[in-house]
Amino acid sequence: MSYLIVNAARSAGTIRKTIYGQFSEHLGRCIYGGIADQDGALRPAVLQALKTLHIPVLRWPGGCFADTYHWRDGIGPRSERKTIINTNWGGVTENNAFGTHEFLSLCEQLGCEAYLSGNVGSGTVQEFSDWVEYCNMPGVSPMADLRRRNGREAPFGVRYWGIGNEAWGCGGTMRAEYYADLCRQYATYLRSYDAGLVPYKIASGANVDDYHWTRTVVERAGQCIDAVSLHYYTVPGPDWQHKGSATDFDRDAYYTTLHKTLRMEELVENHSRIIRRFAKGRPIGLCVDEWGTWYDVEPGTNPGFLYQQNTMRDALVTAVNLNIFNNHCDTVVMANIAQLVNVLQAMLLTEGDKVVLTPTSHVFAMYSGHQGARQLESYAETRMLRRDEEQVPELHVSASEQPDGTVLITAANLNDTEPVPVNCLLGGIHAAGVTARVLAGAPFDHNTFDRPEAVRPAPLAVTPTETGFTAVLPPCSVAAFTVCQK
Ligand code: AHR
Repeated sequence: MSYLIVNAARSAGTIRKTIYGQFSEHLGRCIYGGIADQDGALRPAVLQALKTLHIPVLRWPGGCFADTYHWRDGIGPRSERKTIINTNWGGVTENNAFGTHEFLSLCEQLGCEAYLSGNVGSGTVQEFSDWVEYCNMPGVSPMADLRRRNGREAPFGVRYWGIGNEAWGCGGTMRAEYYADLCRQYATYLRSYDAGLVPYKIASGANVDDYHWTRTVVERAGQCIDAVSLHYYTVPGPDWQHKGSATDFDRDAYYTTLHKTLRMEELVENHSRIIRRFAKGRPIGLCVDEWGTWYDVEPGTNPGFLYQQNTMRDALVTAVNLNIFNNHCDTVVMANIAQLVNVLQAMLLTEGDKVVLTPTSHVFAMYSGHQGARQLESYAETRMLRRDEEQVPELHVSASEQPDGTVLITAANLNDTEPVPVNCLLGGIHAAGVTARVLAGAPFDHNTFDRPEAVRPAPLAVTPTETGFTAVLPPCSVAAFTVCQK
């Protein structure tokens, strides 16, 4: 029997909804053939599925694409929009049918906030500043008038703005010192046009463990920004040429994947420590605006489109990362899994009009009760699995309390073959009843267009005790326990 302990007396703070954010780039079939058709119109079956996901914030238009994107190409009459080449992703043509209005209308229909990534790598300060004015200016101004001529009277009210993307790489191959100065300049001209809406400025952040980048940006540009980003992808293979298959993997690859994804905790803690040290008292957050698994593309698909399947292994990766973000909610202000549809660790896969929910999307749904809740300290007394250098804990957990007193405990059993009986001890929680759901299967189980519900959540038996409850977590599973209080 393993113990899970939840202590309501201690909390790291509120889990911002934005930790459950998503990312949608002009890449492969994420936008065209995923969210929208070639004319930029939203695809009804996808829109319907997206509405079930409780998305709090959606990042767009990239990724690497953002630093080649000129927003004026994507506004106004379709027939007058430029056709360009998507030089980052497959060299395909981009007709700009899906632009600012189409994206922000999608966000309105999903009831989520928009997070726009501005072009720093190949754009100008004026261009970026104009985009903010175009989206947010309520009164009379050149950009607000242009927006009105394009059919939109009210401002869109975009709060989140990314100052470039991966400026150390596809966003300009810059040195941290150079980017920090540029970031100050750009940030200065991202104005507030409405007293109630101050732009939240997110600096382009580090690649994995580039702590020099975080330190330099926070030290030199900290006075101009609200958050700094971090990108970390879980790649099971030894290098980017041999990332590994999404579905055809052995036990070693399974545990290597989990071991690598657990590194997110070390990265979040180290970057957060640096931010705290060099922010000089300013509340600068960490925004993990790209994370998730990155495998070899599905055989026979365009290598530039990054289309991959999604299994129970991905469900565990999701559970581990969301637990980490919940438990570090004092500094992690936002996270955006890559990506929403048909790209990398997607929520949805599409084929024609068919839409499949992935195991990853089910974990997001099971965890949705954490959004906006108060994190509770939790601890798993658990054994470690596997080899010395690649150990992973058998259990991984986080917990939170909603304003009405409902407690959500989310726990993953990382053991691929053995069930784990758990005894959950609830400190300072007066349980009146417990229900649970579980997502379980073999590590490589996944949903297909022929078997779209092969992996889906099911009820899990729980037994109340004087001090909490007991349950048995199946091998390779993610469970969500909902505790109602007296
Ligand atoms: O998500 C795919 C790509 O990964 C993004 O465009 C880029 O920012 C990162 O390298």
